[in-house]
Amino acid sequence: MLSRRVKAAMKPPKLFRWIRRKIRGKEPSGPTWHRAAVGGHWDTIGRLQFAFLESRGLQPQHYLLDVGCGSLRGGLHFIRHLDAGHYFGIDHEQALLDAGREVELAGARLEHKDPQLFRSDDFDLSLLPPDRTFEFALAQSLFTHLTPDMIDLCLAKVMPRLAPGGTFYATFQESEDGTIDPGKPHRWRTQERRGTHYPFLMFENLARKANVSVEYIGDWHHPRQQMMLAFRA
Ligand SMILES: C[S@@+](CC[C@H](N)C(=O)[O-])C[C@H]1O[C@@H](n2cnc3c(N)ncnc32)[C@H](O)[C@@H]1O
Repeated sequence: MLSRRVKAAMKPPKLFRWIRRKIRGKEPSGPTWHRAAVGGHWDTIGRLQFAFLESRGLQPQHYLLDVGCGSLRGGLHFIRHLDAGHYFGIDHEQALLDAGREVELAGARLEHKDPQLFRSDDFDLSLLPPDRTFEFALAQSLFTHLTPDMIDLCLAKVMPRLAPGGTFYATFQESEDGTIDPGKPHRWRTQERRGTHYPFLMFENLARKANVSVEYIGDWHHPRQQMMLAFRA
């Protein structure tokens, strides 16, 4: 065991740590880190997602796939509404999934709703029961963190899992000048992007490649002006 004094001496100097924090941004910490880590606006964006899918016909007997579900900001509302075992969430960050289950789900006393949570970096839906299909899929604030190649992969994995007549809703930050801007690396989740801006045309091209259709729904009152898309087989 290193003594406290030795450990203190090994820490990067204060100035260095200050500069690193300025460059990388401050990774959320504290008991509600998992709410900040998915972008905050916990209640507003959680309820907004639920109200949106409910307005599109989500009923308790339906199955929902929440792609990039994070710590269950929207998930909690969906889980409450859906029949037990009908909510499936997938995310690449285990700590967010754990916080969603251990803090949020337990706090809301919804464990009996038996949500199915999976960790994958590449939307590996072979982890799910092979015959499970979904009337609804949602990617809220996911495409805003992905490169076009990863969006392509996500469509290729999710679309075959839609039930007949099912829809995959996804939000994105729209490019104003028609250019494809994949933003910069995320400050601490380095395999993600931040500040992406994509034109609808890019999604039309990706949808054509995946042999599916895409509808521009546009403004759905997201507080950060993310626009909504609907992909259908
Ligand atoms: C801004 S958060 C939104 C989370 C959730 N949809 C919500 O509304 O609270 C983006 C989420 O996408 C997840 N994510 C990013 N890239 C991913 C990938 N390649 N596969 C799975 N999840 C990913 C992140 O871990 C994070 O939980």
